[in-house]
Amino acid sequence: MKKRFAVIPLIVIMMLSLMAGCTQESGPEATDGNGEQEAPAMKLVAVGECTFAPFEYVDEATGQPAGFDVDLIHAIAEAAGFEVEYKNMDWNSLIAALQTGEADLVVSGMTITDERVLEVKFSDPYFESGQAWCVEEGSPIKTLDDLAGKTVAVQINTTADYAAQKLDEKFKEEGKPGLSIKRLEQAADVFNELKVGGADAVISDLPVIQEYLKNNPDSNIIIPEPAFTVEYYGIAMRKQDKEIHELVNKGLATIKASGKYEELYEKYFGTK
Ligand code: ARG
Repeated sequence: MKKRFAVIPLIVIMMLSLMAGCTQESGPEATDGNGEQEAPAMKLVAVGECTFAPFEYVDEATGQPAGFDVDLIHAIAEAAGFEVEYKNMDWNSLIAALQTGEADLVVSGMTITDERVLEVKFSDPYFESGQAWCVEEGSPIKTLDDLAGKTVAVQINTTADYAAQKLDEKFKEEGKPGLSIKRLEQAADVFNELKVGGADAVISDLPVIQEYLKNNPDSNIIIPEPAFTVEYYGIAMRKQDKEIHELVNKGLATIKASGKYEELYEKYFGTK
């Protein structure tokens, strides 16, 4: 007895939810009132780790993601005719989010590397960058080689982390003391680590260090040397999403030709 009463409402609920599903227009099969095919704009989810100003950060006033990458993907979407929503996510979850379908685009100042190319498809490069390092004014560390035996803060699993590991190996090969590497979860954590004395130096992407200095003029932090790597950022996508690859590259080319890219570049990196 008991069992039957429990099962009937369940079946009713299942039927109702099936019916509701049928009335919803969804996907490319959606038709208009005349039974003709409508082409609803594709809606894509973009993700990035939003502690990486000026590329992506949480705007203090709105609480929403903002930055060069956020504006860029919206401009690309507009030019290529798709819709996009940008969400904040942990750095280590970004590529996994593509694989689970939680996201379609990673727009996160992500450097195109040989290892990542094994897992994802990158758009055409959209930004030239490189690794640099910074210290507090008056630090005895004057060149990259002076980092032997010191502690450096990096964001985990970034090209800064990989550069630090390479440097550590190099020092050891040269018979010098190695580099101790503090691998932190968030991009912005590295600057706090330096400030509180938990690290002697920071390695990060040059434009991000420059932005930190701009926003923290009293930090007494200096960038003693130019960038020591050349890297290109790309938008990461699932390998099989050929249509999305084309749309994104087409949109990027369009905004480069139209001057929109230039406008965004000026907004975030201009000297004016
Ligand atoms: N360009 C570096 C990399 O690809 C760092 C990117 C970090 N981005 C971020 N939003 N935290 O490894």
